[in-house]
Amino acid sequence: MLTGKIAIVTGGSRGIGKAVARKLASLGADLAVIYAGNQAAAEVVCSDIISEFGVRAIPYRCNVADFTETKSTVEQIKGELGGVDILINNAGITKDKLLAVMSEADYDEVLDVNLKGAFNMIRHCTGIFLRRKGGCIINISSVSGLMGNAGQANYSASKAGMIGLTKSAARELASKSIRCNAIAPGFIATDMTNEINSPLAESIPLKRFGRPEDVAEAAAYLISAEYITGEVLRVDGGLGI
Ligand code: NAI
Repeated sequence: MLTGKIAIVTGGSRGIGKAVARKLASLGADLAVIYAGNQAAAEVVCSDIISEFGVRAIPYRCNVADFTETKSTVEQIKGELGGVDILINNAGITKDKLLAVMSEADYDEVLDVNLKGAFNMIRHCTGIFLRRKGGCIINISSVSGLMGNAGQANYSASKAGMIGLTKSAARELASKSIRCNAIAPGFIATDMTNEINSPLAESIPLKRFGRPEDVAEAAAYLISAEYITGEVLRVDGGLGI
């Protein structure tokens, strides 16, 4: 159970982030739901969490790519919820193009949101974790970061970078009882993948796309697994075997 724990989920207004926020709330955690733009969706996620699970849940608009904005948002969360125990770096974007035609802006934006965004959040939460003598970080990477993917050089680089970030943070913070792990989802049915046609499911050994809840289960497991740090857990139906 996570009763009394305070969790931040970035990109928690929909998709995988929403499923993770709901899972942690169902285990008793209070939630800070960070969203980029869709205030109405984030408010619905929070009001549903409050009424279904009886915990606190507050939406925060924040661009995770912005160092200053993430700093003030983490301070606001600490002031309003009382601290941070769990950080889920889930916010992410894709701007897919073949390398020969990928723009500098598309490369930079994906790296800024996916990789620097995770750094920003870890950077600002770490002081809080140190004072609370413990913490748990989960970075939502991707099988694209493990295997590479044609048309996703920017995205794969950002997701591979998150794995390096995870392992360094795990090594650096382990002695302070702060763990850091990554999850590498395969194809999960969300807004990000709804353009991908279903015949792709045939390439997955388990023959189906994952559900956001499959990733949420893995996050809950890693939070509970007190002897696991620096690990990358694939949640991909066997895609990366
Ligand atoms: P989604 O597009 O449904 O949700 C992404 C969330 O990130 C949204 O809530 C959005 O508001 C938020 N976000 C985007 N840019 C932001 C910013 N600058 N600041 C704050 N929040 C921002 O995506 P989905 O599918 O739920 O993916 C969630 C994470 O899982 C992403 O990091 C994605 O790369 C990763 N992932 C998804 C897979 C999939 O098949 N859906 C596979 C592997 C990884």
